[in-house]
Amino acid sequence: MSLPPGPNSAFASRLKYVRNPYALFDACRRKYGDPFTVTTSMKTVITGDPAAVRQIFTAPTEHFKALQNKAQTRILGDSFTSLSGPPHRAQREIVTPGLRAEGLRGLAPMMVDATVARIEGWRPGDELDMVEEGVAMALEIIVRTIFSVEDAEGIAARRVAIREFGDRISNKSFLILSILGILNDALPPMAHFSAAKENLRGLLFDTIRQIRAKPEGRRGLLARIVGTRAEDGQPAMADSVIVDNMITMLIAGHETSALSIGWSMYWALSNPEIYEKLMAELADVDVEGDPHATQTLPYLNAFVRETLRFWPPVPDVIRVIGEEPLEVAGYRLTENMQVAACVFLTHFNPEIYPDPYVFRPERHLERRYSAYEYYPFGGGERICVGNTFAPMEIKIVLAVLLKRCRFTLLNTRMPEVTRTRFLMGPKQPILCRYEGAL
Ligand code: HEM
Repeated sequence: MSLPPGPNSAFASRLKYVRNPYALFDACRRKYGDPFTVTTSMKTVITGDPAAVRQIFTAPTEHFKALQNKAQTRILGDSFTSLSGPPHRAQREIVTPGLRAEGLRGLAPMMVDATVARIEGWRPGDELDMVEEGVAMALEIIVRTIFSVEDAEGIAARRVAIREFGDRISNKSFLILSILGILNDALPPMAHFSAAKENLRGLLFDTIRQIRAKPEGRRGLLARIVGTRAEDGQPAMADSVIVDNMITMLIAGHETSALSIGWSMYWALSNPEIYEKLMAELADVDVEGDPHATQTLPYLNAFVRETLRFWPPVPDVIRVIGEEPLEVAGYRLTENMQVAACVFLTHFNPEIYPDPYVFRPERHLERRYSAYEYYPFGGGERICVGNTFAPMEIKIVLAVLLKRCRFTLLNTRMPEVTRTRFLMGPKQPILCRYEGAL
């Protein structure tokens, strides 16, 4: 059977995809219905229909190949994200225990410390871009909780290296060339990126050596992975693979969280009724003494879920079909074709979310959405490994900010959404004035 309909011009579609995939997907769905076919980095069948999303997320990973975009695999190196099938599953198993709820409990105080350290640098009257503040806080949190570095000097060294790495990865030419899959070593954006990555790799190798020399008292994911042994007693992962996995965590977990922290501040401060409900729920919680208590608050939980429904940072969850064909929405997709579950189309479907353009946390208290109706973290065997870590982080950062500080939101209109580096985020800054301690 032929593919679903879609625009003819691959070139125009690619440009639109790089600029603003939400606008492209919305226009295609209106014109062609769901599913449709569009050229992003490759020809891709796109759907937001929960029944089709279910077919994608429940297919075993053996149905899919690893990423075919060579530039992306160069960026991610030997991490499990570049693998598929059993090797992907095996490596993921080593990385993820430290990111499940029970592994994360001990990391909550570090999230508080990173947020408080940032607040201490603010003076009343400062105008803050909450996405940039989110970038700084999420970075500090990753260095402490994922890279297992807690001393001030070590944090400062990694902060500089990560900033440099982040600047290289958010370079516009680097972004466009890598989405299009045409980045190679001869091009300056790739050369600059590689140099920054090598520098960061060097620091991570140093940390691994320090952990091996003195494992006592080390917390965080890296320390846990370094201590993980295979059945034969040998380290479960080679050091260079651990390092590539850490860099993947940084790429996947830093800006996604930062954007969500920025949006959460916008939603909390733009609507006094929502702000009052959050504050009422937080009133009896000792956020800094017992940060884990934030994890069971129903309204805060619904609020964070709604923040991730509205303008999810990742626009599409992509899979490449392997040797075995896969049927999606009545179409038989064959080897090397791409299929994508479109988070944006599902999350703004009025049949699933009435008044989808209204931010309303209560909808998550009134009903439970299935894993194919609500999936800001993707789904199936490749679901985001940070899907417990990130909501925990957003809740703790937000709770500390709201309980400690007074802010005035300076945006008079909701920011538009656009491509920010690899992800989707606000086009205009989310500007707040820090008014002082609460
Ligand atoms: C609000 C924050 C975040 C959002 C919205 C988000 C979203 C996503 C999405 C949509 C995927 C693709 C899943 C799929 O293909 O089904 C993904 C994958 C991934 N994410 Fe996240 N993420 C976030 C935070 C994090 C954090 C904090 C970490 C690390 C601590 C992380 C690590 C990863 C990794 C390693 C993958 C690849 C998984 C694989 O290949 O098996 N993410 N994320």
